[in-house]
Amino acid sequence: MILPYTRRMVADDGSFAKYGPINSERLSELLGNPPTWHGVADFQSSEHIRRIDASVDLDRLSKEAVSCFEAHHDRGDGFHTVNVTRRPGSTTFDNKDLSGRYWLRPHAGSPEEARDELVDESLYSEIVPTFAGTYIEEVVDLLRSFAPIGRVRLLGKDSFNCNSWHRDPEPRLHIPIIANPGSLFIVNNHATHLPADGSVYFTDTRAYHTALNGGETSRISMVAAVAL
Ligand SMILES: [Fe+2]
Repeated sequence: MILPYTRRMVADDGSFAKYGPINSERLSELLGNPPTWHGVADFQSSEHIRRIDASVDLDRLSKEAVSCFEAHHDRGDGFHTVNVTRRPGSTTFDNKDLSGRYWLRPHAGSPEEARDELVDESLYSEIVPTFAGTYIEEVVDLLRSFAPIGRVRLLGKDSFNCNSWHRDPEPRLHIPIIANPGSLFIVNNHATHLPADGSVYFTDTRAYHTALNGGETSRISMVAAVAL
């Protein structure tokens, strides 16, 4: 029996192989090789998502992050932001502080479009006074010790929420604070869970990417833009 479709699969060497027309023998082969889910909640690195040699005290960070989220700025649609760094002396936050330039393709086959204004990340050199003297400030200083960083934000994502599929002008340093196995980060064609275990991740968000929360609980991450 020939089934009227073809299937692509990943070969062991990572290259793609066209599976070709499928018959009952090949179908039996596929059904006899069911996918496993062990390890799917582990971190899987790629050239664009790497765990870097740094760690934070997750207990201290999560306690502070959760408590300050009660005064967060609600971006709507299940996406929440708390600004941790600011332009010196600024006392209000506008769209540049909260979002900033990104690009996306709004429709199939359409050209890429720019959204929001370009942001000079190097201007975000000051800690928001709310966080002065906190462990969150210590973490910002840790990140600054090995990378020039600009905007640092605490990002909250409700259950069953997803960011746009877009690319940014800069990479991000990403510290998961509250996570569940269904919270994933996708860069280009690679998806991985980023466990909240005190690790710091380099995510090259100059590529197309999104963060999604397919779990039943909210997630919180600290995300720092690398000032290029
Ligand atoms: Fe992004």
